[in-house]
Amino acid sequence: MAELTQNRSVIQHSSWIELRTDRLLKNLQTLRKRSGQTDVLAVIKANAYGHGLEEIANALAGKVTYFGVATLREALELKEHHPQTPVFLFGHLFSHELPAALLGGITLSVSSLEKAREISDLSENLGRKTSVHVKIDTGMGRMGIPIREAAFSVEEMTKLKGLMLDGIYMHFPTAEKDDAFRRTQVLAFGSLIKTLEQKKIAFRFRHAKNSAATLTLKDPLFNMIRPGLTLYGIYPDPGLKETAQFEPVLSLKSRIVLVKKVRAGESVGYGREFISEHDTTIAVLPFGYSHGYPYAAWKNASVLFKGKRYSLAGKVSMDYIAVNLGNTEAKEGDTVTLLGEDQMERITAEDIAGWAGTIPYEIVTRLNSHLPRIVIQ
Ligand SMILES: Cc1ncc(COP(=O)(O)O)c(C=O)c1O
Repeated sequence: MAELTQNRSVIQHSSWIELRTDRLLKNLQTLRKRSGQTDVLAVIKANAYGHGLEEIANALAGKVTYFGVATLREALELKEHHPQTPVFLFGHLFSHELPAALLGGITLSVSSLEKAREISDLSENLGRKTSVHVKIDTGMGRMGIPIREAAFSVEEMTKLKGLMLDGIYMHFPTAEKDDAFRRTQVLAFGSLIKTLEQKKIAFRFRHAKNSAATLTLKDPLFNMIRPGLTLYGIYPDPGLKETAQFEPVLSLKSRIVLVKKVRAGESVGYGREFISEHDTTIAVLPFGYSHGYPYAAWKNASVLFKGKRYSLAGKVSMDYIAVNLGNTEAKEGDTVTLLGEDQMERITAEDIAGWAGTIPYEIVTRLNSHLPRIVIQ
């Protein structure tokens, strides 16, 4: 057994993620400065947008008002390691999951009066009170109490002895657009808050602002920001690049496992989509769609090697991608950057999303959780 462990220590990472947590903290600071708000619900769901829940939580612990996650598993994991930082669970809980959430001291989201009653009853049975934020649907059309029923439902919730109504919130489907729809949402929410205040119902936290809204909406109605993507230095929309400067936290690297010469006319990869026009050098990387590289990106994708950009040769496989290095020399073990910086060149999550015809959120959240994460301060 000792021998096995010893052997494991000689294994070199073939592909890995590097995390610049100094940039994460800088991005957090930029968001605070830009919004003028100190309370932050840091959205670290989906394995901290693929960056690594543990590493990101370690860097943010004690520096944000809440951690926000989507699953009970993530919420409990955070509580175990960071008992001092409140954890907010966006996601729904089925009845059998509630006891673990209540005993874990997780702050819950409620989207219906029925669920609020269930949480309250169970909390009372357990001799405790559960902190909840009420979610209001002002136009996202997903989770949340429909705005027209909200005043009644919230008033009913105030009668529930097992709850602490600590927050009220909503979500924007078009956060980046300062248009009539967004304004209508804000007005409806504001009018609900006013109606409730007239009934002496007030909430400590009123929130709605994801990254895009944090950058484009100023309204005293909201007193906590709720950013995800920009914390990681990624822009939700190219139009927002002018509003503030964020730096990418994550780099993705892989080591060449094989270098080979391919002759003109020979093909590389599935479907024989790449047929070399010239004699060329191909580097094989042990990183494929099973690790999170988007299959759809292959026609447009490039990677960085020794400060220069090179195209992929053929389709992305499950475990490999091949890179067309042309005349450039390379050897087994050399490092290639799939996402991140190499000298003066940079590949962003937004670039890869563009190549694959998707959004940057999908690029990072799909990075395999088994990849090693190395924190660089
Ligand atoms: C309810 C809610 N709030 C906030 C966020 C954070 O959004 P962003 O990553 O665009 O800042 C998300 C992201 O999915 C969300 O679902």
